[in-house]
Amino acid sequence: MSIILVEGGRPLKGELTVQGAKNSVLPILAATLLSGDTCRIRRCPRLRDVETTMEILRYLGCRVWWEGEDLLVDTATVTRWDIPDGLMRKMRSSVIFLGAILARCGQAELSYPGGCELGPRPIDLHLQALRQLGAEIQEEGGALQCRAETMRGTHILLSLPSVGATENAILAACGADGVTVISNAAREPEICDLQDFLVACGAAVQGAGSSTITVEGRRRLHGCTHAVIADRIVAATYLCAAAGTGGDICLKDVEPAHLSTVTAALSQAGCRITWDENSLRLQSSGALRSVSPVRTSPYPGFPTDAQAVLMAALLRGSGTTVFVENMFESRYRHVPELRRMGADIRCEGKVAVVCAVEKLHAAQVHATDLRGGAALIVAALQAQGITQVGQLHHIQRGYAHITADLLQLGAGIRQEDT
Ligand code: EPZ
Repeated sequence: MSIILVEGGRPLKGELTVQGAKNSVLPILAATLLSGDTCRIRRCPRLRDVETTMEILRYLGCRVWWEGEDLLVDTATVTRWDIPDGLMRKMRSSVIFLGAILARCGQAELSYPGGCELGPRPIDLHLQALRQLGAEIQEEGGALQCRAETMRGTHILLSLPSVGATENAILAACGADGVTVISNAAREPEICDLQDFLVACGAAVQGAGSSTITVEGRRRLHGCTHAVIADRIVAATYLCAAAGTGGDICLKDVEPAHLSTVTAALSQAGCRITWDENSLRLQSSGALRSVSPVRTSPYPGFPTDAQAVLMAALLRGSGTTVFVENMFESRYRHVPELRRMGADIRCEGKVAVVCAVEKLHAAQVHATDLRGGAALIVAALQAQGITQVGQLHHIQRGYAHITADLLQLGAGIRQEDT
């Protein structure tokens, strides 16, 4: 088992290139099934969730291999259309394979992804969209049996702008006869990245980034080379880390517009933020002010995935900040761990009230989920003493090299195998 040791109190300084986006690469790897060819995914982050996705693709009969930072996927041969329960349980978001397998094979069998650290993860909107396209779906004992000999384009209105349901609808619509219009679609940058990948494979998808996406199905697709966008949540994590410790960092190869709500909050907290078309610089004294209430919402609102790391940045300084977590039921599990470090946070349902304190102290803490784990590191970088962070497997799902990255920025951090 490994732990991360963080000696707090050092300002972060320097430059860093941010990894490719986890939440882009996962749906794009599922989408390679539609090409029936070889795809080269550039800037693919080496994450646990990517490893799990590779296992799923190999189980389905595909060939997957690394060439440096590029991941190559050959989906010419697909021999199965089911995903075993063990693999489904390793990664809740494996449900994003449903639409792609249906479009490729006309049938799919996978188990219900079930809840996760953030609370229940319903997929009713995914299933409703697929049924509207003509899929027959039996739900029995936690398993989904889906058949879709022929899918026909239709108008899908999502009651919520769900990222995963939008992705599944796009992928299934690529296998449907005719045109599909998806209304109230999610507008996240990762949806735009998925569209760019599919268009590079010869698909006819347009409108990503807006609430209305149109897909013309049954096009003959082929392989492509596609570079994944930067991970905006990893970028937000490092900005929050530098904001909390004080310092001066520059993140390269990022798209500033993708994290504008996060940089707006950090500016309000007293950081100086400047940017050009593909880099972001943050300068901070380390003594942050409280900010206006932070309400998480679908893009372009404040991202739920950045809630924990912004909270960690605001633990020290002055004033009181209110957080309202509107996206997931149980996304404050990092709070008790932050309290061990001296944080003053009170939670009531969706609301968390953070009263900034003068200092934080080291403690032994455990990651409870991916972004909550990253928040513990952001807090530990400010704390007096050496903090031990355990349960790293949560963090490794989404951060390819968080220890090396923070070391490069001058943090006192190392990983130890116990
Ligand atoms: C994606 O999850 C991301 N994961 C999440 O990132 C992110 O937090 C989330 O979008 C919101 O931005 C990936 O892209 C792999 P949703 P997803 O469907 O698709 C409800 C991380 O830390 N809902 O947009 O599962 C749902 O319960 C992860 O990288 C339904 O009710 O999110 C939630 O309250 C965590 N029925 C809300 O919609 C459905 O059928 C948003 O969920 C689907 C969703």
